[in-house]
Amino acid sequence: MTYTYCGKSGVQLPRISLGLWHNFGDVDSFDAAESIVKYAFENGITHFDLANNYGPPAGSAEVNFGKMLKTTLAGHRDELVISTKAGHLMWPGPYGDGGSRKSLMSSLNQSLKRMGLEYVDIFYSHRYDPSTPIEETMQALIDAVKQGKALYAGISKYPPAEAEKAYKILAQQHVPCLVNQDRYNLLYRHVEQGTLEAAERNGVGFVAFSPLAQGLLSAKYLQGIPQGSRADKPHGFLQREQVTEEVVRRVAQLNAFAIRRGQTLAEMALAWLLKDVRVTSVIVGASSVEQLKQNINALSNADFTGEELSEL
Ligand SMILES: NC(=O)c1ccc[n+]([C@@H]2O[C@H](COP(=O)([O-])OP(=O)(O)OC[C@H]3O[C@@H](n4cnc5c(N)ncnc54)[C@H](OP(=O)(O)O)[C@@H]3O)[C@@H](O)[C@H]2O)c1
Repeated sequence: MTYTYCGKSGVQLPRISLGLWHNFGDVDSFDAAESIVKYAFENGITHFDLANNYGPPAGSAEVNFGKMLKTTLAGHRDELVISTKAGHLMWPGPYGDGGSRKSLMSSLNQSLKRMGLEYVDIFYSHRYDPSTPIEETMQALIDAVKQGKALYAGISKYPPAEAEKAYKILAQQHVPCLVNQDRYNLLYRHVEQGTLEAAERNGVGFVAFSPLAQGLLSAKYLQGIPQGSRADKPHGFLQREQVTEEVVRRVAQLNAFAIRRGQTLAEMALAWLLKDVRVTSVIVGASSVEQLKQNINALSNADFTGEELSEL
């Protein structure tokens, strides 16, 4: 594994992190999930990305990860960067969703309880909530840090102008934004329209989620939707309708390109993100140790010629 500083902070993140959005809920095999986490940590992945609502059911990924902290990861708390988030629907009523101070603080307390932690390393506002003043959401992040419940603050899925505002508010109160987390992959490049540039200008790290477009950026969907894949599972966020002919046509071209480079498509897709020094880390998901192994292998061939980059 290689590590890099997250923005202008003093904390380093592994270039490949593990996300627990899918495959770590109560609908999944605990043993399989634990072996993925074990393999990750043994191979230098120190950063584990969670959120209040990961599962299903919502909350179960945090409960399961909390169990692993007492078993496979026991004694390693100070070697881990654990993040969680609040901002999407989590519990019924007016306080279980959005960016209010009430919602963020309550959710963080619940997350700490589920994982059996005294603090998380990064607490994120999971999405920009236009119904809540941004000052209120940021104050909740600042106070979570000042109360010692989180070491750093982060934002996720903020439009560029709102991200700039967030960076300013946090910096003014001496809790600089550590990291911005957004979707970024070969098929979805909207963060190139200002988000990456603003993060760099403000000394904020950037971590890419869904770097494999939920698995589309692998060879697995080229011959249809395989059984047990995310698009096949009823609780998978990737819908069958998203595996369109057009997507498959583009993925097939990318797959041929990866083969020419002597890599799998998943490896090339991750390497392509990591070639940009502004991308601190890519947060991969994995439903097996084998997948994670392949994803870590992306680091072994992350150089692209200028010609390759323009073609891609
Ligand atoms: N901030 C946010 O709003 C937000 C949103 C989404 C995600 N995230 C974070 O980002 C993390 C990653 O997101 P993601 O799971 O969508 O990431 P991803 O890496 O794009 O997709 C992961 C899925 O792709 C398939 N896969 C992974 N490696 C593979 C390989 N080598 N070959 C073939 N298939 C492979 C697996 O699905 P199969 O089940 O098909 O095997 C795996 O579950 C999440 O866990 C979460 O922590 C954050």
